[in-house]
Amino acid sequence: MFPSKHLFGIIVIPFMLALVTNTEQSPISDGDHMGNGKPQDADVVDPAWSTLNESCARILRQNAKRAPFSMVGHGIHSLTVRDLRRFFDPLATEINFIPTINRDLAADYPLLQHAPDLKSPDEEMFVTDAMKAIDLSLSHMGDLNWDIKHFSPLENVVHIFHMEEVWARAQKQFEIIKKAPPSAETCACVMDIENNGVFKFLRFTALAIREPMLIYGGGMKMDSDKKSDLLGYYIPYYVYKYHFKNFNAANRETFLKEKNDAMPRLTNADVWKKWKKLGCTSVAEDYNNALFIYCAIEKSHQK
Ligand SMILES: *[C@@H]1O[C@H](CO)[C@@H](O)[C@H](O)[C@H]1NC(C)=O
Repeated sequence: MFPSKHLFGIIVIPFMLALVTNTEQSPISDGDHMGNGKPQDADVVDPAWSTLNESCARILRQNAKRAPFSMVGHGIHSLTVRDLRRFFDPLATEINFIPTINRDLAADYPLLQHAPDLKSPDEEMFVTDAMKAIDLSLSHMGDLNWDIKHFSPLENVVHIFHMEEVWARAQKQFEIIKKAPPSAETCACVMDIENNGVFKFLRFTALAIREPMLIYGGGMKMDSDKKSDLLGYYIPYYVYKYHFKNFNAANRETFLKEKNDAMPRLTNADVWKKWKKLGCTSVAEDYNNALFIYCAIEKSHQK
């Protein structure tokens, strides 16, 4: 069974704790979401908020309707300074307060405090950001320890442009947020990544990217001759739900995924039909991503 069911499920399946509906108007428009099913209308409490203080939980509850705030960890995980400049802030620098996953998968430190200023080997040769990004990726072709373990060059390129989709969608919300900026109090909660789940989600994503075979199992039959069978990471919405739901119960059974929860290899047009659905985020996710990036940029300008 393909994970699309689960991907759609994260939007459709009610979250663990739907709270009392609050009366504040959400800036997020209704009804735009990926896949089939109904959008969430109750507020959600992010299950990764166990250590978030009361006032932040109240504030983020208003802002994080319909999508767990911690999923921002997916939206930002591969941002670079170039992407920030292009989509959000022409003045972005290497001090940008947007934590990301180190693309060097063999590095001692899997996470970076800031989105790095990654340059491709021949930046000057290209005028488009697309070719610069492709140059960066394909210059590591065959390097198992770059970007996403076991992804083929084609899968890597699709992932790059998938993330551009995510940011282009966030950019729309970003423009709206700029016109009615969040309070300093809101931004303090948004940037409290140790407690608001963003850091947890980033950690889990990094784990799935670095060690997909440990996350997605495959059993003892794992056969190194069958390279085509190697597992690759996919955007772990499903993982998110179970991971955090059962986090306190220390339930390893649900923390670890099944092989079928990983992305199938992108080797034919049929599989592409499944892959392309991953390009979709909900407006609620776009909004949360934009809010985080907005607050991070504000913080970087205050420094
Ligand atoms: C809650 O956490 C936020 C973010 O860390 C902080 O700015 C705020 O002062 C805290 N509020 C209380 C009441 O502790």
